Amino acid sequence: MIDIDHGLPLSSELNAHLHRMVPGGAHTYAKGDDQYPEGLAPVIAHGRGARVWDVDGNEYLEYGSGLRSVSLGHAHPRVIEAVRHELDRGTNFVRPSAIEIDAAERFLEMVPTAEMVKFAKNGSDATTAAVRLARASTNRPMVALCGDQPFFSTDDWFIGTTPMSAGIPAQIAELTALFPYGDLAAVDRLLNQYEGQIACLVLEPAAQREPPPGYLDGLLEITHRNGCLLVFDENITGFRWSESGAQGLYGVVPDLSIFGKALGNGFAVSALAGRRELMELGGRRESDRVFLLSTTHGAETHSLAAAMAVMATYAEEGVTSQLHALGERLAAGVREVACAAGVEEHVVVRGRASNLVFATLDDQHEPSQDYRTLFMRQLIVNGVLAPSLVVSSALTEADIDRTIQVIAQACVVYRKALEAGDPTPWMGGRPVVPVFRRLS
Ligand SMILES: Cc1ncc(COP(=O)(O)O)c(C=O)c1O
Repeated sequence: MIDIDHGLPLSSELNAHLHRMVPGGAHTYAKGDDQYPEGLAPVIAHGRGARVWDVDGNEYLEYGSGLRSVSLGHAHPRVIEAVRHELDRGTNFVRPSAIEIDAAERFLEMVPTAEMVKFAKNGSDATTAAVRLARASTNRPMVALCGDQPFFSTDDWFIGTTPMSAGIPAQIAELTALFPYGDLAAVDRLLNQYEGQIACLVLEPAAQREPPPGYLDGLLEITHRNGCLLVFDENITGFRWSESGAQGLYGVVPDLSIFGKALGNGFAVSALAGRRELMELGGRRESDRVFLLSTTHGAETHSLAAAMAVMATYAEEGVTSQLHALGERLAAGVREVACAAGVEEHVVVRGRASNLVFATLDDQHEPSQDYRTLFMRQLIVNGVLAPSLVVSSALTEADIDRTIQVIAQACVVYRKALEAGDPTPWMGGRPVVPVFRRLS
């Protein structure tokens, strides 16, 4: 157990060093030390399965590994073996490699609702490619995206809608409109308001809420009636809702969809998939060719090998069912211990079992970064690194039960803070902060 007052000396020193060289102190904002309690932002030395070790020598059970990308656990033997095999044979050539055929075939078997696929390195590029394809095929300038969902791309059409829009001309941001999740009438109104201008709707088919009955079918009908396209961002749902994505689970086929994150179990690979007629605009067609995903590293052999090993493991082992079962055990346990401590209205587990998050609410039942700080601090010092409760299949039931015990103890401290009417004495310093904020 970490000494709560002593913190993580070497990690803290390295965090300061990172800030001197890397803006934001991390190459990904969501991994920044400002997302963690003061003095308790571990710098990771290595990981295996569901565990990571920090440079100070502490071991943690880790949730949300690799920003939800490592769903099979770190250094998964089958994935690593497939990657190693390719590393020895060269990773990037002047012409496509045979593995590009195998990976595309495997993907299209796994996601049979798609007719063509193009691989890339990250979800952002693939989502942006979907937007460009939609604009080109409809000859319309605007994009509508679900404003209740947190992230779609690092590109201007999305970042321009966030509080971190510095550097993005207003003219670009004005081309993106927002709609709320689950409300077909609102989408209808938006499409009427910008009649003939919206090229596509972009959304995660589900996030923290399940789609209301008929919602996704309704969206498909409305978009097509209005001459625009439906784009599902399945970066998260793709390998967590079912082996064939949320589209496979809910039986609604979008025009285009994007997969990433868990597709490579930590190796960089994403995919744009969709209807042949649209996807071919990026290739062999008489009409103007759309510049559709073309990057130097786009088809690195070892990442495609990782993706194939991931897809084989998912198909053979039923990984999404395992994720659901682990998540259900965890959610039930956390709800039970929160109730036992009398904080069930303040420590709230939400989302699909394979993709759980937690909310920390104050005495007024409002989301509280102060209470989040208190809660995360208790978890970290007891060996649970959990910015979310997103499970990997490397967790065992015993790991889940240990996590529940740690959360039980955190809930007792939470109760004390609520009773005191002030979490400050348990925060250990400044509060954690959200990624998207205008000022640092
Ligand atoms: C739903 C969703 N879409 C797109 C992205 C962007 O993916 P990447 O970070 O691989 O560019 C993310 C990343 O967090 C995401 O959560």
